[in-house]
Amino acid sequence: MASITLDHVGKSYTPEVAVIRDLSFDIKDGEFMVFVGPSGCGKSTVLRMIAGLETVTSGTIRIGDRVVNDVHPKDRDIAMVFQSYALYPHMTVYDNIAFGLQIRKLSAADIQQRVKDAADTLGLTEFLQRKPKALSGGQRQRVALGRAIVRNPSVFLFDEPLSNLDAELRVHMRAELAKLQRRLKTTTVYVTHDQVEAMTMGHRIAVLRPCGRDESLSNLTQIGTPMEIYDTPANLFTAGFMGTPKMNFTKARLSDDGREVLAYGVRLPVAPAFHDAALRAKGRDVILGLRSEHVGATHEVDWASDCHVTGTVELVEPLGHEVLVFFQVQGQSLSGRLRSHAALPPPGEPITLQIKSDAMHLFDPASEKRLA
Ligand SMILES: Nc1ncnc2c1ncn2[C@@H]1O[C@H](COP(=O)(O)OP(=O)(O)O)[C@@H](O)[C@H]1O
Ligand SMILES: [Mg+2]
Repeated sequence: MASITLDHVGKSYTPEVAVIRDLSFDIKDGEFMVFVGPSGCGKSTVLRMIAGLETVTSGTIRIGDRVVNDVHPKDRDIAMVFQSYALYPHMTVYDNIAFGLQIRKLSAADIQQRVKDAADTLGLTEFLQRKPKALSGGQRQRVALGRAIVRNPSVFLFDEPLSNLDAELRVHMRAELAKLQRRLKTTTVYVTHDQVEAMTMGHRIAVLRPCGRDESLSNLTQIGTPMEIYDTPANLFTAGFMGTPKMNFTKARLSDDGREVLAYGVRLPVAPAFHDAALRAKGRDVILGLRSEHVGATHEVDWASDCHVTGTVELVEPLGHEVLVFFQVQGQSLSGRLRSHAALPPPGEPITLQIKSDAMHLFDPASEKRLA
């Protein structure tokens, strides 16, 4: 068991370009931390630096109390699982799982017991004598997990381990993996570009973005519990990245008394969470963010609101339990969620929409930060 601390960590593969800039955070002993961000933002790089597979250009990485910058990967007491399972094709499942223990010279009895326990845990007992090519994708993934579990490491590092699985298996395995971590209580860092995995698996989420050329930008945009990240995104990047469909954004202005937001051709009362900030920024431009679940059709919503706008239907996506509808309002696109599309007017015809204004998000257009 171990905590992980990154202190002002930077990484440049070439002198000109920083891939990781000024990254600092603590992962607690036993915590399941998810790193989420778009492809290319440096998630694998961070994980590989923690593993010791990549050097650190600046800053320090600690595992427990020990600075590990110069510690060899095999001496860091970690186990890593990759998207490509990297199994040995000529070895049986048993030998694939046992291999790492054999080279560490554990006793035969100890190895046998550990492989048996891991196989039980992962439902692999009946496949131990098979070769990887005779397994399904999900079973191969379990073998890769088994290889990590038997090591009984202080830290698990997962780099998009479910990305190669089909959708159904991915949903199943993400629940299995989360349960396994809760049981083993091994400190875990899990990297994914999938925001649903991020929301559902971890105790906390760190949202990363490419750090770009701006020297003042770090890759870390926000760190918090899944619901903190979803309910109070700290900036436009996090707000736009987490949530499907993407949060609606529009340019807006605060009224001169700071009590209303002028957007979509109407005046929306400022949500209580922003009362103080809106008073300080009265009369100024802001960016208004609304999640689709806070935009509905007047004929079916059950929340009270006197914020109505008129729009036209542009696109309807029935999902079964709900319907996503993309409207046009005042020349802007606005997505909403409806229970049914039975009462929707045909495309181009007007419909009255209701906005749950107390669930609004306000951002500063210059800094892109949440008004607070
Ligand atoms: N060995 C390398 N040499 C040079 N550039 C690299 C190397 N590995 C990754 N990069 C670059 O670093 C950036 C981050 O890559 P990576 O950490 O793999 O991102 P992610 O895992 O978030 O998709 C990318 O722009 C990538 O091209
Ligand atoms: Mg990657």
